[in-house]
Amino acid sequence: MGCACADISPEIINRKNKNRLTEVDFAIKVQKLYLSLNFDFIPTMKKIVIAITGASGSIYAKRLMHQLHQFEGVEVGVVYSKNAPDVWRHELGEEIHSDFPVYDRGDYRAPFASGSAKYEHMVIIPCSMGTLGRIAHGISDDLTSRAADVILKERRQLICVIRDTPLNLIHIENMRKVTQAGGIILPAAPSFYSLPQTIEEVVDTVTHRVLDLIGLDPKTFRWG
Ligand SMILES: Cc1cc2nc3c(=O)[nH]c(=O)nc-3n(C[C@H](O)[C@H](O)[C@H](O)COP(=O)(O)O)c2cc1C
Repeated sequence: MGCACADISPEIINRKNKNRLTEVDFAIKVQKLYLSLNFDFIPTMKKIVIAITGASGSIYAKRLMHQLHQFEGVEVGVVYSKNAPDVWRHELGEEIHSDFPVYDRGDYRAPFASGSAKYEHMVIIPCSMGTLGRIAHGISDDLTSRAADVILKERRQLICVIRDTPLNLIHIENMRKVTQAGGIILPAAPSFYSLPQTIEEVVDTVTHRVLDLIGLDPKTFRWG
C-alpha cells in the first residue's frame, strides 16, 4: 500500500529537519531572549545538592528528600557514595532511591562538579567521618568530595550532618577545618521539646533544622 510520505523527496525532508530546532537550540534561544529582556530581578531556582554517604542514618536523607519535594522552586541533584546503598538497605529494608535526578559518584561531569552551575547549597546527610575527612583535606576523589570542595571555594553553603558519637580528635580537627573553610557541622542530634511521637517526628527535628538553614520554611514546631 502506498504512503503519502513517499511523495516527499529526501531533499525536502532534510530541509525540514534542518529547520527543526533541537531541544538544546531551543533552550539557548529562550535563555538569550530572557537575558535580553534585562530584568532587574530574574527569579532563579534554589539549587541544592544532596549527598548521601555510608554513615548510619539513611532515614535522615530519606525524610529530607521527601520534605524537599513539598517546596516549589527547588532544583535538587543527588549523589550516593559507594557504601550508602548498603547502609540504606540495612537500615530501611529497601533499595536506595530518590525521585530527584541521581548522579553517579564518579561522574565529574555532573552539574554540581563545577562552580559555574551555581548550586548554592549542599547537604551531606548523613555524613560519614571518611567523607568529612576527605573534604577537610581537599581530597576530591569522588563526586561528593569534589562538589563539597566546589561549594566551599565558591563561598556557598555546605551542611555536613554527622552522627558519630563519641568523637576522636581526628573527627574534631576535621570538623574544625571544615567549619573554618565556611562549612556548617550539623550533628544529627534530635531535640525532644516538641514531644515527638514517632521515629519520623524525631528525625524531622534534625531535617527541619537543615531546611531552616537552607532558607526553606518547614512549618515546624517552634519554641516560644
Ligand atoms: C550499617 C553501617 C553503618 C555505618 N555507620 C557509619 C557511621 O555512622 N559513620 C561513619 O563514618 N561510617 C559508618 N559506616 C562505615 C562507612 O560506611 C565506611 O567508612 C565508608 O567507607 C564511608 O565512605 P563514604 O563516606 O564514601 O560513604 C557504617 C557502615 C555500615 C555498614
